Amino acid sequence: MTRAWTAALAVCAAVLALAAAPPPAAAQQKAKKAAAPASAAASTKAAPAKADYSQRFAQVCAACHGANGRSDMPGVPVLAGQPSLYVVTQLFLFREGRRNNEAMTAVAKTLTDDDLRGFSDHIGTLPPVPAPPPATPPDPARMAKGKALADQHKCLFCHGTDLGGGQQVPRIAGQREEYLQASLRGFQSGKRAAYSQAMPSAVSQIPVDDLDTLAYFAARFPGPAATGK
Ligand code: HEC
Ligand code: HEC
Repeated sequence: MTRAWTAALAVCAAVLALAAAPPPAAAQQKAKKAAAPASAAASTKAAPAKADYSQRFAQVCAACHGANGRSDMPGVPVLAGQPSLYVVTQLFLFREGRRNNEAMTAVAKTLTDDDLRGFSDHIGTLPPVPAPPPATPPDPARMAKGKALADQHKCLFCHGTDLGGGQQVPRIAGQREEYLQASLRGFQSGKRAAYSQAMPSAVSQIPVDDLDTLAYFAARFPGPAATGK
């Protein structure tokens, strides 16, 4: 228990440092590279421009996650509409080998601290893209059950009444169903590493059938317009 919390705190501290300012190690490396014109390098900081990351997203990430951040590949999550702080945390977990997925870990290992920030900031600007209309209309009874479960287990409390997330909490409205299902089952079994106890404890007592119903509900969530938010 204590160890899990210590680990969670260490991740939080590292991520906050990333989100705020370059951590000392990165700053030192940069200073070393730019040793000669030290004062000029310090004042310009040579931070990659924002436009670079929209381009790099198109080159490196879009093949899997979709050009607008709406993935249409099974198992690959939608990134459009995710808060940048959530994204930077997850990229950090992948890079450090705590959250594991062969494809995504391989990509994350190549990213510098500046890249984590640059990609997260870029993703934070991608507007949510609604899910394409489902082949069959949502089953009203299953949607009602999903809504009741989301109320009962405080999913709406943390993820927002529109399931849009914010800060370190991800958007789950309109996310791909099979990805939601795998994530929820993964948090419960421990297969998916969490950076805090929020999700493992939220799902620890929920029967797998209900987890799947929650995934069904969130994937088909009607969205802000329909909820009158
Ligand atoms: C080869 C395909 C592939 C490429 C290329 C790729 N990803 Fe991923 N990404 C994945 C998969 C698969 C997952 C889901 C992993 C899992 O289930 O744990 C993922 C997960 C993520 C997540 C976590 C999302 C969430 O909701 O938790 C983020 C953030 C992410 N990718 C960002 C990126 C960025 C930024 C790039 C480009 C630098 C990128 N990905 C390139 C396949 C890819
Ligand atoms: C105490 C606040 C809290 C509660 C309650 C909560 N969540 Fe979360 N949820 C989070 C946080 C924080 C994360 C990021 C977790 C991490 O990486 O450790 C998350 C992550 C997730 C993810 C992963 C999304 C992705 O893009 O990978 C899903 C799915 C999810 N939550 C669904 C739910 C459902 C369904 C419920 C209700 C059973 C729920 N959450 C309850 C805070 C909460």
